[in-house]
Amino acid sequence: MTELKINNGRFTLVNNDCLQYLKTLEPNSVDLIVTDPPYFQVKKDAWDNQWTSEADFLAWLDEVLFEYWRVLKPSGSLYLFCSDRLAAKTEVLIGQRFNVLNHIVWRKENGVHKRHRKEGLRRFAGQTERIIFAEHYGADGVAKGSSGYQDKCQKLKSSVFEPLISYFSNAKEKAGVPSKLINEATGTQMSSHWFTPSQWKLPTKEQYAILQSLFENYSVKLEKEHSELAKEYSALHLNYVDLSRDYDELKQQYETLRRPFSVTADVPYTDVWDFNSVQYYEGKHPCEKPLDLIKHIMTASSRPGLVVLDTFLGSGKAIARACVDLDCQLIGVEMDPDIFRTTVEDLSLYQ
Ligand SMILES: C[S@@+](CC[C@H](N)C(=O)[O-])C[C@H]1O[C@@H](n2cnc3c(N)ncnc32)[C@H](O)[C@@H]1O
Repeated sequence: MTELKINNGRFTLVNNDCLQYLKTLEPNSVDLIVTDPPYFQVKKDAWDNQWTSEADFLAWLDEVLFEYWRVLKPSGSLYLFCSDRLAAKTEVLIGQRFNVLNHIVWRKENGVHKRHRKEGLRRFAGQTERIIFAEHYGADGVAKGSSGYQDKCQKLKSSVFEPLISYFSNAKEKAGVPSKLINEATGTQMSSHWFTPSQWKLPTKEQYAILQSLFENYSVKLEKEHSELAKEYSALHLNYVDLSRDYDELKQQYETLRRPFSVTADVPYTDVWDFNSVQYYEGKHPCEKPLDLIKHIMTASSRPGLVVLDTFLGSGKAIARACVDLDCQLIGVEMDPDIFRTTVEDLSLYQ
């Protein structure tokens, strides 16, 4: 086995069989798996013809999936490419270990279907590749059974937001404003969310303004009945801009616990994606993935600093570029020594 660290340690490149290498990785050490395994007898290359039957191929893939399950963090994401032909079986296999979120259809406008002689077809021409997107079962709660992730999440949420929760709950307690009155004034039945750790959230700007004047009126009442100290603590004295700035900072800390995912209306946000495939050039890996597609995956499902794993690296060109641009670490595994050599040469030039 060869293991190289290049690009100031950002890329760990491994020349080995992926199963052997995966077994050496620590559990829960990877944030995102983006990978493109052999398709089974789609390409003429030796790596796509290592198994004598489809059943053998799927059994092998299941072993790989077991290792993915082990190394992927509870908040991690898996994107696995597969051919349209085996997509259904692959999805079922993945579903036995992971919670499948999407079966993404990658439509290639410039695909090989254009070159088929249509009259000779015995089935409809494939114009797509599929990408199965999955997370751990219970990713927002009890992922990986005994890890107590839900508990940790709840505790962390309470402790991260503790200063803000206390600010609100202290004020309410000191002012003694009844919940019923708060609900009536703010027009919601959910005001308890602002004063207790369970499902805590920040009121809106409008709701906060109502709370401030409500608590202020109560403070005037308190002033007559209680001490100055009680009055001070009962006032919601912070302005909303400061409050929401604190909230945003704390929320960011909390968000780092969850599976990253963000899209906008300006990117492919449905499960049908249109990206052109990489056109032939001298020395191209037969399955090189387009950079815009890989970058789309990583923009949606990564954050700076995360560890990305591809155990079927091939050329590694797109995933490595995306990792540099989005400031992630890459572990890439490629079994074929010749492909590996070319990949290392190419990726050494990445800045
Ligand atoms: C479908 S290609 C991936 C191409 C890649 N997405 C790219 O953009 O270039 C699969 C790659 O996995 C490699 N491979 C096949 N079996 C492997 C194994 N057991 N361990 C590691 N790599 C393997 C093959 O040599 C091949 O380069």
